[in-house]
Amino acid sequence: MSRILVTGAAQGIGVEIARQLVAAGHEVIVHGRDAARAEVALTGARGARGAVTGRLDSLASTRLMADDARRRGPFDVVIHNAGLGPDQDRPVMTDDGLERILQVNVVAPYLLAALLPMPRRTIILGSDAARMGRPAVDLAPPEPWDGHQAYADAKLLVTLLAFELAARHTDKPVNVVHPGWVRTRMGGPRAALPLADGADTAVWMATADTPVTRRGGQYVHRRATEAAPLEASDLALRAALMDRLAAVTGESLHH
Ligand SMILES: NC(=O)c1ccc[n+]([C@@H]2O[C@H](COP(=O)([O-])OP(=O)(O)OC[C@H]3O[C@@H](n4cnc5c(N)ncnc54)[C@H](OP(=O)(O)O)[C@@H]3O)[C@@H](O)[C@H]2O)c1
Repeated sequence: MSRILVTGAAQGIGVEIARQLVAAGHEVIVHGRDAARAEVALTGARGARGAVTGRLDSLASTRLMADDARRRGPFDVVIHNAGLGPDQDRPVMTDDGLERILQVNVVAPYLLAALLPMPRRTIILGSDAARMGRPAVDLAPPEPWDGHQAYADAKLLVTLLAFELAARHTDKPVNVVHPGWVRTRMGGPRAALPLADGADTAVWMATADTPVTRRGGQYVHRRATEAAPLEASDLALRAALMDRLAAVTGESLHH
């Protein structure tokens, strides 16, 4: 049995990951953006041990969430599932001066990773959209605005983050999971896969004991390693991203 934190568990792939983990007998802590969403997550994943709250589009709120999570930890596994999709017809700048899609999908996972003890396994929900991403390590939004480009950029950047963490912790696997095109709010009603399939690989990476799940620094889809975007292996790009993330959050990766 593992103690597992699942972010963004009030709906979509996150709630299904939490459900499957509870059903497999793990101690699950879910996450919602506020108390009401955390309640929804707890109701959705009945049997979860508790919930943390925090908005991932606010550094202050993400910090409070990390404080709360530290008190409920340490976690064996953290699944960074929460994400914000591309359907935004203009850039939205947060109180922290960051574009919201980039903050939720890249800056928040970085800040949580910097503030929480390093789990035995880390899984970050990426996307094949990353293959269309630009390695905009300065976190500048696309100009002119294009929500799909911002999302693709964010998923590429969070893949760089995962691969950097993996390189630093060869004994604590960090991996990116692409769930496929899944029927959720983000994926839409015409998506190919039901929730159960969308959650499957993340749950497997969190819990199974196999050569793939024991290794880090992989882009995993349908329980198999696939070629990662080339930029994920670019050490200079990764270093530049870490510098930028440290500057915007005021936290460096101590571990
Ligand atoms: N669905 C797909 O086809 C697909 C494909 C590739 C990758 N992915 C990735 O898979 C992950 C889950 O996607 P999904 O399809 O399940 O999306 P979803 O149905 O839109 O759910 C996203 C989750 O993230 C949470 N979230 C979003 N913004 C937040 C914020 N500012 N603060 C706190 N929580 C926030 C949402 O909370 P609320 O419920 O309160 O809004 C929700 O729980 C994402 O990382 C996504 O990029 C999905």
